[in-house]
Parts: sequence; C-alpha cells; structure tokens
Amino acid sequence: MYEKTRTIEWENGIVVTIDQAKLPFETVILEMKSCKEVAEAIKSMKIRGAPLLGAAAAFALALTAYHSRAGNKEQLVKELESAAEILKNTRPTAVNLFWAIERILKGAKNFSGNVNALTAFIVSEAQKIADEDAAANRRIGKYGAELIHDGDTILTHCNAGALATVEYGTALGVIRAAWEQGKMIRVIATETRPKLQGARLTAYELVRDGIGVTLITDNMVGYVMQKGLVNEVVVGADRIVKDAVINKIGTFTVAVLAKEHDIPFYVAAPKSTFDLKITSEDVIIENRSPKEVTHIGSIRVAAEGVKVLNSAFDITPLKYVTAIICESGILYKEDFDKFKA
Ligand code: MRU
Repeated sequence: MYEKTRTIEWENGIVVTIDQAKLPFETVILEMKSCKEVAEAIKSMKIRGAPLLGAAAAFALALTAYHSRAGNKEQLVKELESAAEILKNTRPTAVNLFWAIERILKGAKNFSGNVNALTAFIVSEAQKIADEDAAANRRIGKYGAELIHDGDTILTHCNAGALATVEYGTALGVIRAAWEQGKMIRVIATETRPKLQGARLTAYELVRDGIGVTLITDNMVGYVMQKGLVNEVVVGADRIVKDAVINKIGTFTVAVLAKEHDIPFYVAAPKSTFDLKITSEDVIIENRSPKEVTHIGSIRVAAEGVKVLNSAFDITPLKYVTAIICESGILYKEDFDKFKA
C-alpha cells in the first residue's frame, strides 16, 4: 500500500512519486532528478491524471532550474524553454500540463532578480501549484458532497482520485468528502479499458479507504443504470472547453446513458482544467498504441493484421452535464452559457 498523503512531492532536488503503471500489485517509488525522466514517466503513464500532469510538469521545470549550471537568468530561461518543449510533447489532451508550463515560464520571464533567486522562485512556484491543487480538491470535495445523499450509489469512470491529482482527488474527492460526512454511500467503478485505471487505481484507492466499491466492465454501464443501481455519476475532466468536457474515453457513452435514465451527471475538476478560450474542435485527442487494444498484458488477443483505433479521450457536449464542481463552487447550465462569451 502507498502510504504517503501526496502523490507527488519535491524533496531537495528530487521529485518523488509512485509508479502508477505498476499498481495495484507493486508499490514502486520513482525518484526523478531530471525533466527528461519526468517526461518519460508521463509518456509511459507512470504519472497520469490531468491535475497530476500539471504538478509533475511544474516540478520537472523546477528540476531543470535546480540542477542547471546556467550563469545568468537569460540562459536559465532558455533551458526552461527547451525543457518545456520536451514536456509539451508528452501527452496532448489534458490542459493542466500546458497551463502549469505556461504559468512557470511566464513567471520566469517576468522575474527580476539573479539566476539563484530565479531558481528559488521556480521551485516555490511549482510547490505552490501542487499545494493549490491539494487545496482545490478539498474544496471540490466539500461542494460536491452536497450533491450526494445518504444511501446513494455513485458511478465513476477512469480514475479521478488522489492518484490522478496531488492529493484527495476530484471525482473521488467528492466521494471521499461525502463518506467523511458519514453518508453511507457505495461506488460503482468502471474498469476503463484499455489501461484499466478504474480496475487498477480507483478500486485500489476505494478499497484502501474502506469505501464500498463494485467493479464493472465498461459495457455494463447501461445495464446497471437500467436496473436502477446508480443515483448519480461523478467523473473528472482532462479539459473543459467552451462547449464540452473532454475526459477518458467512454465518458461520453456514460453521459448519454445517464441522460437517458434521468441520472445526474457531474464533472469534478479544478479551474486549472478549464480552457475556455477554445472549443472541442480545437482539442487534440491523444491516440495511443494499438498494442494497448490488441494485447491484454503481454498476451495478444486480436488477430494479427487488424487495424486499431485507440483514442484515449472523448468529448461530452455540455448538454449532457448536470453540473461542474470546481473549487469556487457548483456551476450549472446557466453558468455554462457564460463559457461561450
Ligand atoms: O489517461 P489518463 O489516465 O491520464 O486519463 C485520466 C482521466 O481521464 C481522468 O479522468 C482525468 O484526468 C481526471 S483526473 C482528476
């Protein structure tokens, strides 16, 4: 079991996190000393989940600054820009990664002070991004718990838990907060093919916390809703744009089914996930390796030569979303209209 409260931490020039690709059976701690190592961990999904990607990118830039031998501020800014390019080429869909990089680069460019002071600033800014995410998740939990009633069963998709964030979680933060308030709730977690974040990570987090969880295959969502087994859906987000929520592949299917069955569909996400300058047409949806679909573990299950489309995220138009829970409160349809302004 992973006992640290935070999924990612800065420890004197080392970024410490857990290898999520190995969970739930192996607890492997990663200690990273360079931006390249962090970028590699993001690419291979040892580090994943939108808010965690933001914090990891920020700490990766902090590593660049901390271990740099740059003799002046201008040189350090150049090194940070190169590191930022490496990070931006890891995963394209979650906006938090780009948001954190831009925040740090902007701060660095506007910084007046010498190179040592700039390094200290970058490290503290990265730490601030992590602290803010932890605080945002607690607030999301507090607001979101108001929507959950004693006796409810909540369906969640993928993993929007402590592991996907710095601490506590977004969708699982809402569930945790309701549970901490003493509400007797249960969770239905979808397995989330092909990377199984639901089976491997959400089930792990909830079992660890003693919150009742039932794992289902992704294609059971319609059936459990039809049988009246779900009171509400709470999911996270990788990017919230003017007209839609972008989240793990399968989210759109869950949302359409929820609407069909009059089940509230809630999205829990910090404001670092909002990207209200663009629409869903502008979002790059990551396509991943065919091997994630043709193989289960190392065993091939599909015929050689078959074509594969393995899109990692989908687009849920806002008309399917009952409310978005963020650290400032709960946003409803009338608030979504303002996104378009
Ligand atoms: O591919 P992943 O595992 O990084 O995708 C994660 C998700 O889609 C989560 O639901 C989303 O990032 C919200 S995490 C709080």
